Amino acid sequence: MGCYVTIVTVLLFLVLNLVEGAPQVPCYFIFGDSLLDNGNNNDLETAARANYQPYGVDFPDGPTGRFTNGKNMADFLAEHLGFDHYMPPFANATGDEILQGVNYASGSAGIRNDTGSHLGYRIYLGKQLENHKVTISRIADLLGSTTSAKNHMNKCLFIVGIGSNDYINNFLMPEVYPSSNLYSPSQYATILIQQYSQQLKELYEDGARKITLFGLPQIGCIPDQLKRHDTLFCVDSTNQAVQLFNNKLKALVDDLNTNLPDAKFIYINMYSISSAIALTLLNRPCCKVSDTMPEGQCIPGKSPCLIRATRFFYDNFHPTETGNFIASNRAYRALLPSDSYPMDIRHLVRASNLYYDDQ
Ligand SMILES: *[C@@H]1O[C@H](CO)[C@@H](O)[C@H](O)[C@H]1NC(C)=O
Ligand SMILES: *[C@@H]1O[C@H](CO)[C@@H](O)[C@H](O)[C@H]1NC(C)=O
Repeated sequence: MGCYVTIVTVLLFLVLNLVEGAPQVPCYFIFGDSLLDNGNNNDLETAARANYQPYGVDFPDGPTGRFTNGKNMADFLAEHLGFDHYMPPFANATGDEILQGVNYASGSAGIRNDTGSHLGYRIYLGKQLENHKVTISRIADLLGSTTSAKNHMNKCLFIVGIGSNDYINNFLMPEVYPSSNLYSPSQYATILIQQYSQQLKELYEDGARKITLFGLPQIGCIPDQLKRHDTLFCVDSTNQAVQLFNNKLKALVDDLNTNLPDAKFIYINMYSISSAIALTLLNRPCCKVSDTMPEGQCIPGKSPCLIRATRFFYDNFHPTETGNFIASNRAYRALLPSDSYPMDIRHLVRASNLYYDDQ
């Protein structure tokens, strides 16, 4: 009888574990821009906010500050990783929930501090890293020491998606920002990567070891760039500038993996993934977009298109939930070998100390 009870208990435990499987990593932190922001800009003085209808029409909680109709890539990746919740925005994160992760991403933010400044306040990458230090000191309080907090960080997945605004809301806006007068596209990409490299080393110093870097999508093909150039076709000069950045970012991944002990950086090829999505989904934005500030974002209160699952873009800049779904699936589990380098997120989270041990 006692043996029977034990077997039933063991079976029940196994079944519950299968249903309520633990996440693949104990913690997950998010840095970046509006493609990943889930509410950090809501209380900031900026035009780059999305906490109003029709943003969030397909999200269970309605408009939350996500720049899309439903879930963003950070949300879908949380699901892939096995979390039962999305990571709270830093602006709102409290208590011991921060042990499982925080989202620092901020709409209009860039690698450069001044990027996006014409839209108002934003939490640029350097500031996001400062906010992360605040989280680490809170975690040190929860776990008892800074060493424990950094050891905790070693086990987490970090994703960083930044750089689009350094083009859209900086280099490609010569009427506001001087960068394109000062630098060639190649020089600008080099400067961005140098600054980004320093910032990533800082993240590493703070304990991060498993770090996913999202490359830039085909920015020359987004509705905003087509409108600015008054064309129906992708803007080649923009795509070429973006590819200079991406090539240097991919090289940076090799550099960091070689030079930082135990570091596991991976690169997600958003450029090719976004070009593949553009072949299957309609490019026209789903919502009615504004011609005035914030130009290209959804007009508040206007109904969006009805069949959102066939659209790539929700407004002039941001993918629909469907676009985010496809991109995050390919980032997590590469569909083509070119989707990620040198491995996808699924392999990164399983990788242990030696870099190539899970290939
Ligand atoms: C912040 O928390 C409050 C209270 O829980 C909630 O009502 C609000 O929607 C949250 N904001 C964000 C951006 O998640
Ligand atoms: C950018 O911001 C970071 C972090 O807030 C700060 O340390 C740095 O001095 C700033 N750089 C410039 C050029 O303003």
